[in-house]
Amino acid sequence: MKVTEVKNICCIGAGYVGGPTMAIIALKCPEIKVTVVDVNQNRIDAWNDEDLTKLPIYEPGLADVVKECRGKNLFFSVDVDKAIDEAEMIFISVNTPTKSYGKGKGMGADLKYIELCARQIARVAKNDKIVVEKSTLPVRTAEAIKSILDHTGSGVKFQILSNPEFLAEGTAIEDLKNADRVLIGGDDTPEGKDAIEALTRIYAHWIPRERILQTNVWSSELSKLTANAFLAQRISSINSISALCESSGANVHEVAKAIGADTRIGGKFLKPSVGFGGSCFQKDILNLVYIAKSYNLHEVANYWEQVIIMNDYQKSRFAENIISTLYNTVSGKKIALLGWAFKKDTNDTRETASMFVADILMSDLADVYAYDPQVTEEQMINDLIYLNTRSEDENRKHLHKGVDPYETCKDAHAIAILTEWDEFVGYDWKRIYENMMKPAFIFDGRNILPHDELRKIGFLVKSLGVG
Ligand SMILES: NC(=O)c1ccc[n+]([C@@H]2O[C@H](COP(=O)([O-])OP(=O)(O)OC[C@H]3O[C@@H](n4cnc5c(N)ncnc54)[C@H](O)[C@@H]3O)[C@@H](O)[C@H]2O)c1
Repeated sequence: MKVTEVKNICCIGAGYVGGPTMAIIALKCPEIKVTVVDVNQNRIDAWNDEDLTKLPIYEPGLADVVKECRGKNLFFSVDVDKAIDEAEMIFISVNTPTKSYGKGKGMGADLKYIELCARQIARVAKNDKIVVEKSTLPVRTAEAIKSILDHTGSGVKFQILSNPEFLAEGTAIEDLKNADRVLIGGDDTPEGKDAIEALTRIYAHWIPRERILQTNVWSSELSKLTANAFLAQRISSINSISALCESSGANVHEVAKAIGADTRIGGKFLKPSVGFGGSCFQKDILNLVYIAKSYNLHEVANYWEQVIIMNDYQKSRFAENIISTLYNTVSGKKIALLGWAFKKDTNDTRETASMFVADILMSDLADVYAYDPQVTEEQMINDLIYLNTRSEDENRKHLHKGVDPYETCKDAHAIAILTEWDEFVGYDWKRIYENMMKPAFIFDGRNILPHDELRKIGFLVKSLGVG
């Protein structure tokens, strides 16, 4: 088969990856019609909303791109069959959560949504197509997709490519426009090479060719898991040192600066924090651990699992420090959390450290008030339901979304900074101090506030990683 020219792209999955990546492809390739489809009608309605503040994803710069392309060459629809039928190239960008049942529970990736997509493509396709794995997948998933697609009996030929996405939420549009690299894995056959070239031509509209890496499929699949594992490992590494700094009297910022100056180590991703969240790091490492175990590589599995163990430790260490500092109990005390999203500039709360911290504080019977500029109370409650520690009624009794930051912090015994939103730095901290219970504690889980100034106001500031 030879798909020489791609005029129609379909992307299955209109989430944090499918939406922004397709918006940029539409922006950069005006001659290609891009249709993003999803089974979730509400999500598609939100993508089509006239009011661009209602897009389902908050991501700086995204609304402008959608405004420019939507209705011209960028479409959002629930008609999955039609979009598959029309497209020469289909991206699969559906969720691949950790399995919550049966074999591989709590570790392996749940590939049921991927399999459903493959079966739907197999059923609908009437002519040859290139299928692109955009979702993050265990190594050798392409083989499974291929086996489903190659047994349709329809004579339609498919090429499977792996094209993992490296964007970071909060900077997705910038990351997509100026990607460090684009990775495309495909078969080492003439047909495979043609397919790789077809996708390369799309990215080459805006990414220099030398930054488009071509590999075999398995290397590409494994590179994505490995990239996330390395990034998360750096966070856990510096967080482990933050604990040591607090106990020994060293200062983690000084240590980070000193080691980051070594060009072999580099200065990025060396900021200590309350622990990483987001939908990807934990899931992808668990996936890596599961794959290593399945190959009987137990030392490899244990090595990577430690990154998650350290992250869990950092989250609970932070929450427990609040309890012990507040004289060993937060029962009946108002604790204000500033930030709920897993990082700034996103409304994504999957695996956010905030929910784990809130959960531990609530188990010690605190009254938690949380404020986040992009997250609703319902979303916070849903996150706690996911943790499944107590009933929904109990959660609603002890967790409230503050109307604004000042109201959230009023009469609080302590404030915990959990997301590094820029706006937190600019608050009137004197006003906040005056309205708090005394002593007024701040636990800065992101180290973003001006600690010396806060101390002058009267706050007792606990900064992560400073002895
Ligand atoms: N979020 C990130 O920052 C990020 C970055 C890189 C890679 N990834 C990977 O990309 C993939 C997607 O992640 P996401 O954050 O966009 O997930 P998401 O949950 O935001 O979006 C997935 C969408 O797929 C839809 N979907 C599921 N099955 C479907 C089907 N059969 N037909 C049509 N639609 C279907 C869901 O309704 C959902 O809207 C995951 O594998 C993830 O690991 C995510």
